[in-house]
Amino acid sequence: MTVVKTVVWLLLTGLFLIWSEVEGLGVNWGTMATHKMDPKTVVQMMKDNGINKVKLFDAEQSTMSALAGTGIEVMIAIPNDQLADMNDYSRAKKFVQRNITRYNFNGGVDIRYVAVGNEPFLTSYNGSFSETTFPALKNIQNAINEAGFGDKIKATVPSNADVYGSPTDNQVPSAGTFRSDIHDKMVQMVQFLAQNNAPFTVNIYPFLSLYGNDNFPIDFAFFDGTPQPVVDNGIQYTNVFDANYDTLVSALKEAGYGDMPIIVGEVGWPTDGDKNANINMAYRFYNGILPRLASNKGTPLRPGPIEVYLFGFIDEDAKSIAPGTFERHWGIFRYDGQPKFAMDISGRGQSSLVPAQNVRYLEKRWCQFNPDAKDLSKLGENINYACTYADCTPLEYGSSCNGLDANANASYAFNAYFQVQNQDELACNFQGLAMVTTQNISTPTCSFNIQIVGTYSSASRVSVYLFVYLIVLVVFSL
Ligand SMILES: *[C@@H]1O[C@H](CO)[C@@H](O)[C@H](O)[C@H]1NC(C)=O
Ligand SMILES: *[C@@H]1O[C@H](CO)[C@@H](O)[C@H](O)[C@H]1NC(C)=O
Ligand SMILES: *[C@@H]1O[C@H](CO)[C@@H](O)[C@H](O)[C@H]1NC(C)=O
Ligand SMILES: *[C@@H]1O[C@H](CO)[C@@H](O)[C@H](O)[C@H]1NC(C)=O
Repeated sequence: MTVVKTVVWLLLTGLFLIWSEVEGLGVNWGTMATHKMDPKTVVQMMKDNGINKVKLFDAEQSTMSALAGTGIEVMIAIPNDQLADMNDYSRAKKFVQRNITRYNFNGGVDIRYVAVGNEPFLTSYNGSFSETTFPALKNIQNAINEAGFGDKIKATVPSNADVYGSPTDNQVPSAGTFRSDIHDKMVQMVQFLAQNNAPFTVNIYPFLSLYGNDNFPIDFAFFDGTPQPVVDNGIQYTNVFDANYDTLVSALKEAGYGDMPIIVGEVGWPTDGDKNANINMAYRFYNGILPRLASNKGTPLRPGPIEVYLFGFIDEDAKSIAPGTFERHWGIFRYDGQPKFAMDISGRGQSSLVPAQNVRYLEKRWCQFNPDAKDLSKLGENINYACTYADCTPLEYGSSCNGLDANANASYAFNAYFQVQNQDELACNFQGLAMVTTQNISTPTCSFNIQIVGTYSSASRVSVYLFVYLIVLVVFSL
């Protein structure tokens, strides 16, 4: 009997250890790419890397199908441009029926959260979503509650860390408060979240602290100490992540909910497109934050585990670069599911990242500047055209391809466009300025990529089926 007990006890402890190792760590899966990897391949990458939580930016069907039956916990999302629609309760109910209730079956999708909007209160949106966000949140949570899933599924609003701060004359975490222009709205929202036992979700970006401010003490963005910590009531803050998180804890406390659960919806470091965005700095950041998270130490004001979603899982070459030219390079994996650097995702010194399996590439063909081209007067124009439809951000100042000469610069742009166009020969002409080559024109620092064979979206697959069906109909009616 005691043997049995011991075995059961050992098994349970083992299970607990396995569970606690990955507790909290999730990833963001964005799909703004010209060539999307097969959702099933992406989900397999998550499993292979021990990731059991994912945050999405919509509730797209092919993504949801790939996640079905995996046991991965999912945060689906309602994009900002659909918030106004959700101010209508019957519309919100439809969303819940169509995108939540439908997946609730044995072998379905384990939805835990609904992200209502994405940083809707961002200062640069000039208040465009500030009136529609809270009503949408209420309608979605109420519709979830009405459908009987209120205990399991929580609606939350992923907010940028610019929704709170400390007064400029007293920049310490304990002085944290919600931004004055939305203060009362935030307090109301927090009250509603509390009534539903829902968490506050915040995106914290040490990289952006550095990007926005050349005087920002660089060590403070990382986790290996700083000679000038921020001292607050005897607490020493040595990194901006802790300081920022505790500023939110203080803002919640001031609103009357100092114990509200917090989810870090996004945190990460980009690897290209800016002088501070490179593999070395991303490596330093992740090597600092991952062991910290695995230790479950928490922050000075909130000791204990933190639920975190890394941003992001895979690069997205079609993301808007309005916020900055680093935007397409947040992935811990490249566009093709190859890891960018060794990373101990469990934070316990064991594993490096497992790459995607069975990814198919286009042929080994590149598009390059034609050295025999005579008339170069239209070169600039053609480069601009290529870069409007393809990702040229690695050419930017401080980026991986910034050192190229003028011809290689042109080649980079032409190749990027050629790959986006699935190596269509017509896409490698540029008024005679370009030519196809089978020579790998990459340099040691600058990778001239070959695109992957992307998946059809489910919509285009349906139209292919329809097309084939119509042809069959026509043929048989003759
Ligand atoms: C369900 O989610 C999809 C993908 O995000 C969205 O396009 C669609 O409008 C949603 N359906 C409803 C009924 O709201
Ligand atoms: C916000 O206002 C600024 C300045 O008036 C403007 O340049 C910007 O385009 C506006 N942004 C949005 C999203 O409306
Ligand atoms: C290459 O392109 C980048 C981005 O368009 C530009 O800033 C840089 O000056 C170009 N370099 C040369 C040598 O033409
Ligand atoms: C091209 O060369 C680069 C640098 O040597 C290498 O990393 C890359 O894998 C090569 N690409 C292909 C498709 O062989």
